[in-house]
Amino acid sequence: MEIIRTISWMKETVRQARAENHVVGLVPTMGALHEGHLSLIRRARVDCSRVYASIFLNPTQFGPNEDLSKYPRTFDRDVEQLTDAGVDILFAPDAKEIYPSGFRSYVNVEGLSERLEGRSRPGHFRGVATVVLKLFEIVQAQFAYFGRKDAQQVRILQQMATDLNLNVEIVVCPIVREPDGLALSSRNTYLNPEERRAATALHRALDEARRALNAGTRDALQLQTTIRRVLSNDPLARVDYIEIVDAESFAPAAWIGPRPIYALLAVFIGKTRLIDNLLIEPAADANAPVCSL
Ligand code: PAJ
Repeated sequence: MEIIRTISWMKETVRQARAENHVVGLVPTMGALHEGHLSLIRRARVDCSRVYASIFLNPTQFGPNEDLSKYPRTFDRDVEQLTDAGVDILFAPDAKEIYPSGFRSYVNVEGLSERLEGRSRPGHFRGVATVVLKLFEIVQAQFAYFGRKDAQQVRILQQMATDLNLNVEIVVCPIVREPDGLALSSRNTYLNPEERRAATALHRALDEARRALNAGTRDALQLQTTIRRVLSNDPLARVDYIEIVDAESFAPAAWIGPRPIYALLAVFIGKTRLIDNLLIEPAADANAPVCSL
């Protein structure tokens, strides 16, 4: 695997690959890689003849009181994992390469960015959209792979791609979980053993919501109450939000009807903020909806 540090060399490399008619797939990450990231790489390997990954711990998507300084940095191990996974090129620029002095242009996907994660983390999605647009411009991949774990993020990036006529197809991949249901996240390393046990509450709560849906619940308030009940049983869990939203507009939904819906959670376990979601899609017949955890 070649490691590229500069934008100019990355552009030249991809230009050559595209000239040779390669199908290029990009997997953007912030490093501290785990099986969730690697699942995106594996999916890209199936679709594409060249797989590029990026590692860039993007400062503009972290608030002033967030965890940028203590975010796990495991570059050497990441390189090993990406090599083993068959990545062709790792783009790993430093912050000055992406944000040189005098940088002033940002992307704001209005309406979708202010709620939920955006309300708890002001400016977060402006930083995400800006860096991902830059990565798309630099790498010029035909396909880009993102996890449904960050459902609002990928929805915002799809909207950006539509609005700005980007020549990239965004592929959404399923959530990879630990055997006990906890969604893999680089931030799970912050949890002490007691918190790690409590962190399964997010998955347990969503699983309970799934059971309620299978039993016929369609009222969003009732689903929220079910989820809240499971989370409140855990003394270490403090809810930031529990929201039932339309999967396209991310506007609150009152009823689980014929459109795809997300049940979205953000929960503090001790000082660590974790997110998770349940995707609820209508069944082809009038039976219980299809729930994906
Ligand atoms: P990061 O948190 O490193 O995640 C990189 C990608 O991995 C994202 O698309 C995320 O949704 C996906 N991912 C994380 N955990 C996952 C899991 N358990 N299962 C499946 N996919 C998972 O998200 C970011 O970085 C940044 O915001 C980024 C898009 C790179 C822009 O800086």
